Amino acid sequence: MIYDKLAKNYDRVLKPFERRFLNGWRRETLSMLPKNARILEIGAGTGANFPFYPNCRHALAGEISGKMIELAKSKTASIDIAQFDAEALPFAGNSFDAAFATLVFCSIPNPENAFEELKRVVASGGRIVLLEHVRPKNLLGSAFDFINIFTVALIEDHFNRETAELAEKAGLKILEVRQKAFGIVNLIVCEVVK
Ligand SMILES: C[S@@+](CC[C@H](N)C(=O)[O-])C[C@H]1O[C@@H](n2cnc3c(N)ncnc32)[C@H](O)[C@@H]1O
Repeated sequence: MIYDKLAKNYDRVLKPFERRFLNGWRRETLSMLPKNARILEIGAGTGANFPFYPNCRHALAGEISGKMIELAKSKTASIDIAQFDAEALPFAGNSFDAAFATLVFCSIPNPENAFEELKRVVASGGRIVLLEHVRPKNLLGSAFDFINIFTVALIEDHFNRETAELAEKAGLKILEVRQKAFGIVNLIVCEVVK
C-alpha cells in the first residue's frame, strides 16, 4: 500500500496547500453534510477533515492504510476510526445517512466498486459528498492524460479520473458540481436514489 510509505510526510507536504486553499475547501465540503446524522468518511487518511466534521449522531472514518490510521488516531477522541477497503465496505445496507471523501477517488483502484458500495450503505435520499481532483474539461485535459502516466506509476494516483461522470454511471443523482482551480478540483454533491 503506497500510503503506508507516504504517511509520515503526508501532513508536512500538504501543509502549504492546506493553509492557502485546502482547509477552506474541506470546510465547504463538510458543510454540505447533514447535521446529527450517521456519517461515513472513506479514505480518511491522517484525519485532515476531523476539525470540520458537523455534529453527528455517529461519525466513522475509514481508511485502508494502517500507517495513515495511526496518525489519524492521534488527532481525535470522538470520531471512530476503522481500517477497511472502500471497495468492500463491512456494513449492512442503509447503515449511514451520508458519506464523504476528499482526494480519495483518484487513488481507489476500481472507483466503480466504491460507488456501488457507498450506494448500498447510504440510505435512499442520503448524500454523498466528494472533493476530488479530476480531469479538467478544458484544454488542460490532455495534459492531465499525460501526467497520469507518471502519477499512476509513481504514487498510484489517477490524474485523469472523471469522478462526477463515474458517480452518475453508478446511478447516483448529481445535485451539484462546484468547480475549483480551473476545473482541476470538483466539489461533487450526489444523492442516493434506490
Ligand atoms: C490523497 S489521500 C487523501 C487523504 C484524506 N482524505 C485527505 O483529504 O487528506 C488518499 C487516501 O485514500 C486512501 N485509499 C486509497 N484507496 C483506498 C481504498 N480502496 N479504501 C480506503 N481508502 C483508500 C489512501 O490510503 C489515502 O489515505
